[in-house]
Amino acid sequence: MPIVLEHVTLRYPGTDPTAHPAVDDLSLVVDDGEYLGVIGHTGSGKSTLVLLMAGLLAATSGRVTVNGADLAERSARRALRRQVGIVFQYPEHQLFADTVAEDVGFGPRALGLTAREAERAVDDALERVDMELCTYGHRSPFELSGGQMRRVAIAGVMATRPDILILDEPMAGLDPAGRAEIAALLRRLHDRGLTVVMVSHDMDDIASLADRVLVLRDGGCFAHGTPAEVFARQTELREIGLGVPHAARFAARLSACGIDVGGTMSTPEALADALASLRTDLGPGREA
Ligand SMILES: Nc1ncnc2c1ncn2[C@@H]1O[C@H](COP(=O)(O)OP(=O)(O)OP(=O)(O)O)[C@@H](O)[C@H]1O
Ligand SMILES: [Mg+2]
Repeated sequence: MPIVLEHVTLRYPGTDPTAHPAVDDLSLVVDDGEYLGVIGHTGSGKSTLVLLMAGLLAATSGRVTVNGADLAERSARRALRRQVGIVFQYPEHQLFADTVAEDVGFGPRALGLTAREAERAVDDALERVDMELCTYGHRSPFELSGGQMRRVAIAGVMATRPDILILDEPMAGLDPAGRAEIAALLRRLHDRGLTVVMVSHDMDDIASLADRVLVLRDGGCFAHGTPAEVFARQTELREIGLGVPHAARFAARLSACGIDVGGTMSTPEALADALASLRTDLGPGREA
């Protein structure tokens, strides 16, 4: 199991002891190769949760285990630097070097790889984000488009070859083309076997990318399941200030008009398939 949380609580030092902690008695398992989407209202504990998973914050109580190592141990937290990559919000703000290759090579060099190993890691990482070294390596990261800059920043994290990738709002602030680029990249990385944990406010992104969804409320688990299971609870989600994917809203409207598409469809593709089979059911074959 890559990530296991057992009754994890995190209370930030100096905060009101009568208020609920930032993460409150949360238990969760993230399976090997899973794509977990994390949603929740502002201040529900999403960023705190991913910092705990990356070993950058220590739990006040409870246990976080990553790849079998208990993160209460300092040595386990150090070893995580190779296993877990974390992409913070607006990661392109952390680009600093004169060239793309130098920037992406920072992580491998910091891990002590030889120059040749680091070069190979940079080559692989840029290939993974579809920005080949020969085309982009010598360019300044600051001359690229928003989506490309973010892909370079993600390559910088991938260059340390993590098997778990954690992203906090990876699509935030991008135009539709940039969002599509990042979504395609994340789907590709996940298809190649990476375990992914992604925080997002965008329900359509969550529905189209994640295998499972965790809904946080006041630091605790409000709901956990497949996108179809979670987004079927539209009324409850609305009560805690969260929306649902467009496809799920549309399916609910159809159902209210007496057209039953057979459950909650959380992606346009699933809804289109359901409508197509409905049309076949209602088609001339049935009346004949
Ligand atoms: N460094 C900190 N010190 C004290 N309290 C903090 C700190 N960081 C976050 N908090 C508090 O912890 C709670 C959870 O915050 P967190 O940033 O994890 O929420 P979030 O779900 O990521 O919110 P957002 O959607 O706004 O990014 C909030 O009440 C927040 O005010
Ligand atoms: Mg946050």
